Amino acid sequence: MTDHEQQSPASFWESRYRESDRAWSGRANAALEREAGGLTPGRALDLGSGEGGDALWLAYHGWSVTAVDISPTALERGRLTADSADLGDRISWIEADLATWIPDGEFDLVSAHFLHSPVELPREAILRRAASAVAPSGVLLIVGHGAFPPWSTHRHDGPPLPVPDDVLASLGLSMSDWTVVTSAMVDRDAVSPSGETVVMTDAVLALRRAVSV
Ligand SMILES: C[S@@+](CC[C@H](N)C(=O)[O-])C[C@H]1O[C@@H](n2cnc3c(N)ncnc32)[C@H](O)[C@@H]1O
Repeated sequence: MTDHEQQSPASFWESRYRESDRAWSGRANAALEREAGGLTPGRALDLGSGEGGDALWLAYHGWSVTAVDISPTALERGRLTADSADLGDRISWIEADLATWIPDGEFDLVSAHFLHSPVELPREAILRRAASAVAPSGVLLIVGHGAFPPWSTHRHDGPPLPVPDDVLASLGLSMSDWTVVTSAMVDRDAVSPSGETVVMTDAVLALRRAVSV
């Protein structure tokens, strides 16, 4: 077992964010822009929001956003950016461990991007709770890595990364209540920490809940 694998999720992620002034690009994820761009804004829930790139994009496009993450440093970065962009009143930043956190109410969009972790993370249980927080006619968007980033230094000897069909099966949904909007492996260009352009593959699953369930 490596050192970080013995850390609690809160301690691992807080240290990870404190290593640098900014961990991610600050931009919204491409899959979010593509999948949510045509939706009517309402209430959105962003699980594992990090420094808030997606939450900020959603707020800018008219959504009222609840952004949840385990790292206070990441959340504070998001909050400061939102305040400076005059979007502060559209985003609630919640510090919580998604392993136990229960969403309050229903959301027109529930989004989880790259909810992967080298330390303990009960991803399937979290995503099942995410599905139950989607309002009638709302959308559940789950985006994961299709392959580990080439620069990742963590051990990858666990189970393979789930493809969209695996994620769908793990949710255990009654498919008479849901429509698959997107289930695809999607390539995109990304810039590595050392500045190289690389092609990354996203595992994208978007589901729409029926109007009445
Ligand atoms: C790979 S990052 C992705 C961040 C963001 N969604 C994005 O696309 O840039 C994973 C995020 O999940 C958060 N996270 C990991 N485990 C968590 C947990 N148990 N509860 C809440 N957040 C968690 C981390 O703090 C981190 O911000």
